[in-house]
Formats: sequence, C-alpha cells, structure tokens
Amino acid sequence: MSEINIGLGNNDTKTRREAETDFVAFWAKQAKNLSWFSNWEKTLDWHPPFARWFMGGTINASYNTLDVHQQNKANKPSILWEGENGESQILTYKDMWIQVQKFANSLKSLGVKKGDRVTIYLPMIPELPISMLACARIGATHTVIFSGFSAASIKDRINDSKSRIVITSDGGYRRGNIIHLKEIIDESIKDLDFVQNVIVVERTKNKIHLSSKDILWNELMHNVSDTCPAEPLDSNHPLYILYTSGTTGKPKGVLHGTGGYLTHLHSTFKWAFDIKDSDVFFCTADIGWVTGHSYVVYGPLLHGATLVMYEGAPDFPDESRMWQIIQKYKVTIFYTTPTALRMLMKFGDDIPNSFDLLSLRLLGSVGEPINPEVWKWYFKIIGKEKCPIIDTWWQTETGGLMISALPGLETIPLKPGSGTRPIPGVIIAIVDEVGNDVPPNTKGYLVIRNPWPGMLLTLWGDDQKYRDVYWSKYPNSYYAGDYALQDADGYFWLLGRTDDVLKVSGHRIGTAELESCIVSHHNVAESAVCGIPDVIKGEAIIAFVVLKQSVTSNNMDKELLQKIRDDIGAIATPKQIYFVTKLPKTRSGKIMRRLLKAIANGETIGDVTTLEDGAAVTEIQSAFKELQKSIQKKSDLT
Ligand code: WT7
Repeated sequence: MSEINIGLGNNDTKTRREAETDFVAFWAKQAKNLSWFSNWEKTLDWHPPFARWFMGGTINASYNTLDVHQQNKANKPSILWEGENGESQILTYKDMWIQVQKFANSLKSLGVKKGDRVTIYLPMIPELPISMLACARIGATHTVIFSGFSAASIKDRINDSKSRIVITSDGGYRRGNIIHLKEIIDESIKDLDFVQNVIVVERTKNKIHLSSKDILWNELMHNVSDTCPAEPLDSNHPLYILYTSGTTGKPKGVLHGTGGYLTHLHSTFKWAFDIKDSDVFFCTADIGWVTGHSYVVYGPLLHGATLVMYEGAPDFPDESRMWQIIQKYKVTIFYTTPTALRMLMKFGDDIPNSFDLLSLRLLGSVGEPINPEVWKWYFKIIGKEKCPIIDTWWQTETGGLMISALPGLETIPLKPGSGTRPIPGVIIAIVDEVGNDVPPNTKGYLVIRNPWPGMLLTLWGDDQKYRDVYWSKYPNSYYAGDYALQDADGYFWLLGRTDDVLKVSGHRIGTAELESCIVSHHNVAESAVCGIPDVIKGEAIIAFVVLKQSVTSNNMDKELLQKIRDDIGAIATPKQIYFVTKLPKTRSGKIMRRLLKAIANGETIGDVTTLEDGAAVTEIQSAFKELQKSIQKKSDLT
C-alpha cells in the first residue's frame, strides 16, 4: 500500500518517550490538564483486572466541560445544532452551563441523588447532552439508549440499571418521519413499577398521551434556579453505563468512571484531532453510541471546542446534507464512519464537488475497517488531498481511541486502511492462541497489555462476566475480540471480530441476541445468524431458521421481521432469511457458521472444503450438500 505523507507540522517526541518510560507517571501528568477539586493520593490502583485511576481525587465531568470555560469562553458557541427539518440553534458555553444547572436542579427536585441511574432515550437534540451533563453534575449515572432501539430492548436496559427516572421526547425526526419515542417508552415501562417519572421533551409537538408519571421538560424547568454547584465526586464514581452487544443473549452494561475517562478523552482529543480554539468540530455519530458520548459530548466540551450536532439522517432531505452542513458551519474537522462514507461515495463526486469544503483540515474515520478505496476517495474528494485522515480504532469498553495517527502530536506517514500506532501510554500487541507475540505481518488476536485511563470499570452488576469476557483468555492482558496484524513498520491493521459479534453500519450486533429473539417466536425451532460482506454497511445480517414441524414458511418472514423490530430495533433487520429443515452441525453439536456464510455468499463446494470449524472435509462436504438441499425458502428483506 502506498504511503501518504501528510502532517500538521507537529513533532513532539518527548510525549512518547515519557509514556514509554513510566506510563503511570505519564497519565498522572495528563490528568493535571483537568480541574480537580482535590488531588489523588495514588495514580493507579491495579488489582487485575480492576483498574482504579487517580484514587482519592475528586472531580466532576460537568464542571470540567462547562464551569472551566465560563471565564474565557462564556459567549463562545459550544453546540451548533442543526435540526433535520432545517431548524437550527446555537448554544454558547454560558447557555449550556445555565441549562445544565437548571436541569440538574430539576432532577434533584424529583429526588434524584448521587449514585442513582437515569435512563435517557432522546433523539439528537440539545436536551440530550444537557441531560447527560446535568446527571454528571449531581453524580447520577446516565445511561443513554440509542433512539433506534425497541421497547423490549429498552425495558431490559431500564430494568438492568433500575433507573427511576427516564428522559424522552414526544418524538424524533428521521428522514422526515416522526419516530414516536414517547409511545415506545410507555410500552417499555408498563411493567416496571420502580420507574417513578418520565420527563418529556417536546420536540415534534405531536399528540402524546401523558400519564400521572409524565412531566413535560419545559414545565419542570420553569422557575427552577439556575445555580447548582457541581458535586465533587470520587475519581472512580460511575459516570455512565452504556449497553453494548456481546456474545451472549443479554447486552452488557459497560461502566465508565470519571477522572480516568476524562483524562483519556482530554488527551486523545488533543493528540488525534489537534484541536484549536478556532476549530469547528463535526462528529456524525449518534450520542446513543460511545463515539457520541466521547467525541460529541465529553471530548470537545472538555476543550471548550465548538461542535456541530446534527439531528437527522445523513441523506435527508437529499444526498448533499453532510456537505451542506460542512459548508454552512465552516467545519474544520469531520469525523464519521466508513458506512456513511461508502454511502456518500455511491452518490457520486459531483455532489460534494459542488460545495465549498475547503474549511476542512482534518478528517477522521471510526467504527469499522475503512477500505483503502473509500479512504482514497475521502482523502481526494472531501479533503482535497490536504487533510490528514485519522483512522481511529477503539471500543465502547476502551472509552476513547486507542490506535490512531495523532496529527496534534506528531507527523507520521499514513497508509490507507491502517490506524497506524497506539496512542502514547498504551501497549498493544498481536498474539497467537497461547499469548505469544506473533511475527510482523501475521494475523493474531489484539490484546492490550496495560491498564489505561479510559478503561471500563467493570460490567454493571457483573464483575465475573467482566473477568470472563475480557481477561480470561490471556492472564493480565485485555482481550479486545479483534483480529489484527502489525506490519514491518509497526502499523496496526484491523481485520475484523474474532467472536460472533457483527458490525452492521458500524454498530455492534450480537448474533446470540438476535438468535434468542428469533427462537422466541412460537413457530421457530432453531436459528443461526451470520454476517456477510455488504458494500455499504460493511456487514449484512443473514438468518437461518428451522421452523417447527407442521409450520409452513408462508408468512413467517414478515412475522420474524416484525418480531426483530419489536424486540431489538430496525438496526438488527436481516438482509435475508433462509428457511431450512436443519442447521449444519459438527459431531460435537457446534453450528458450522462458516458454512452458513458460504451458502449466503453463494460459494461453491470447492470454496468451503478448507473451512475449519473443527470438522473433517468429508463432513463439511456432506453438511454443505445437505444444507443446500434443506433450503425451503429464501426471503430477501432489505
Ligand atoms: C469494535 C468496537 C470505536 C467506537 C465505535 C464502535 C470495530 C472500531 C475500528 C477501526 C477497524 C474498528 C472493532 C472494535 N472497530 N473502530 N478504526 N477499524 N475496526 O465501538 O461498537 O464498541 O465496536 O468496532 O471490531 O472491536 P463498538
């Protein structure tokens, strides 16, 4: 792969040297960039696999994102909000500070206390970051649920976190339609008696039913004091829970702390995005995912940056929306996903070429591997060959980015498709099955060798699962669940998940979660789900379903589709469902998933005899033939 040598002229070798000498002292130095109410006594308390950073220090995330800017940046825009329907709103750092304090007092008036959990199910409107920061201000732990999730998924999450307060809106705009969020919340909490109040933001002003539990945001905020001092919280006080898919049927509640998490974000936002006071930063992620938590809300606001927050779909009302926004707000840094880029690239070059994108100076990619072809398009057509592209690898669990080029720190030749190297203070290795480092250019498992400040505290309510999922495969190394290789120059190349987690449009979808949804349909006997490559979404979902005897598959595709939408949400919609009479299994009863993929990919028997799955070649061949014969119907759904 050809190298592209472009940097921003920064070359700070001291930072890396300090990190290599003593990563604990290094992170202590970075943490001093934040405002602490009291200093920590111990930088790192490491009882593997539990890391507690800045022990004894007290800090507040809302204070560090808002109060610290009131002296010099009170009138600087913090959020440039762009509604899907063309409305817009500018909130300065002072506006945010006042709104957050008012809402923090409103939460207090409902009895919300330090340590309580608050569920937030909102579209991309300013009340979403305001709610998060208000929770942070009083020490309540927020748990934001992406507004595309269904009532059943929300119910599980509210039940798991035992949130007494839920914040939602009358609706949200998506491609011109209104999504009825309040109705979905009503459905999700109908059996959850512990939910005391639902706070409702009026975004769309459509008709909603209000019960005795419901309180309108505006009424709650009426006549509330706008002074609410930020609570000094322990550095390891839980800032938020964010649920993410894993390999079991139940989503995991990733729990993040405060001081370590903020240190990680403050540092990475500076190193990777080279943030300057004059920048206009636009991250397209929904705040319902970790990218939105870390790089729409906390990272930019810690730096007093101006950010663009967009409410709707990237192609609404037409395919030029992203470029229009960049032109309108003179965006300087643009951070998006390969899925969005693949879609935008498909619309052709004339659309971006007819907008003024020259304000851009830095581009970013996140969430899935970026194909070199798309990388080059991004570089040439969007960045006009003058903007470095940072390809940032990280996870919900890592809190902030872990592998990325760092134009704010150093100049490094870029290679399209590689994230380059780990950030300072983080040691990443590629190992084989038993944990030995593999030679350069060899595919292996990505592990992290030391604790880092943005690291999750644990999984909410399940320390054992936290140990099992991330720390049991290799002693003292964090197991990320990704394949990767390191080339001879030390660059990392991410090669996909090692587990049964799919990446559809950059979102994590657990196959087990989807399978348990499908088999809970009364007509289904068995199901297996796999992913196949998709030109836009990266991966698409394919479901194999065995119906109970005597059931025919006439309307079952539609019923299953509805069930998936009701139980999980539209993001988990399969592209195809294969109705088969049996699933291919090894003698030990393991489903041969790769065989399913082969069938879904239209491969021939010749292509599949090399598949492993712990089965003999003859076994695979006969299973392949049987599977082909057993297909009763194939339904295309998307
Ligand atoms: C998984 C984490 C990163 C925040 C958003 C997604 C994949 C993430 C990259 C990248 C290749 C990537 C990995 C990772 N991934 N970034 N730059 N190149 N793959 O967070 O939902 O927790 O997913 O996304 O497979 O493990 P997430």
